[in-house]
Amino acid sequence: MSFPLVRMRRLRKTPAMRRLVAETVLTPADLIYPMFVCPGEEVCQDIGSMPGVNRYSIDALVEECKEVHALGIPGVILFGIPEKKDALGTEGYSPDGIIAKAVRAVKKAVPELIVICDVCLCEYTSHGHCGVLEKGQVHNDATLELLAKAAVTYAKAGCDIVAPSDMMDGRVIEIREALDEAGLDGTPILSYAAKYASAFYGPFRDAADSTPQEGDRKAYQMDPPNFREALREVAMDVEEGADMIMVKPALPYLDVLAAVRDEFDLPLCAYQVSGEFAMIKAAAANGWIDGDKVMMESLISIKRAGADFILTYFAKEAAAILNGGTA
Ligand code: PBG
Repeated sequence: MSFPLVRMRRLRKTPAMRRLVAETVLTPADLIYPMFVCPGEEVCQDIGSMPGVNRYSIDALVEECKEVHALGIPGVILFGIPEKKDALGTEGYSPDGIIAKAVRAVKKAVPELIVICDVCLCEYTSHGHCGVLEKGQVHNDATLELLAKAAVTYAKAGCDIVAPSDMMDGRVIEIREALDEAGLDGTPILSYAAKYASAFYGPFRDAADSTPQEGDRKAYQMDPPNFREALREVAMDVEEGADMIMVKPALPYLDVLAAVRDEFDLPLCAYQVSGEFAMIKAAAANGWIDGDKVMMESLISIKRAGADFILTYFAKEAAAILNGGTA
């Protein structure tokens, strides 16, 4: 059947008709809000390249989390800016470190809010790499133990999900075993399974002050030209016991996201990263695009490609629009 019997425009006539036949629906329940925690009190410090996103001290973070929860957003993912950085990223796994303290405070104040902890060393190491350095290279196996320690620390503090983002080989099984040994077999692992060495992380590194002092992350994060390799990365993490998987960044890697959706049945998420957010904000600030509309379109596209949920700095703004029923 084809034209003139079929006219595709019939079902696009009105907003109600379009809503009726929408194949993909976005709700606040699909969103996770990434947040930066820093030392101090009553700190709410803006991040130049990420308008509207702030670094919060723990007291301010708790207040912000109450707002996030009230918007119907199910959870947050926390990134820490430590008091002190050192070569081994000690504050990343110390029970008195910034993240462990933040988790305890947030879970106490807003117990229903899902708290995800990013597990990586780059925010805590003086050199800015995601693991232990040996002769200028990140040593895979020596890093695993520290990542596992961090995961156990966060889970003990009460976080709901640990999310390793370091891209070391074998970290999922190492973390699973360490959690189980510590009696934390109920804590799920969300693996940043296909994480690319992306220039789209630039603004995040300003926010977390985690730019590598020397070199880059290309020897551990994935090379952007590779697609089949992403499926192998995901398969390995699933084999090692990941409960959920992630593709990151989102928009430039929708092909990868869609393929992972096709091949795997685990809950799948995508991370709309700092650079994706910053580009939309910058263009909107210049009046070149309609920021709200592009935000909603980018999010629905990520969901349409196969994400069950989305980590996004737009979470609050998008939830407010979704709750208000516009855009
Ligand atoms: C830590 C980590 C990074 C991001 C999430 N976890 C930075 C990186 O890998 O350099 C980036 C998130 C973003 O850009 O929004 N490894």
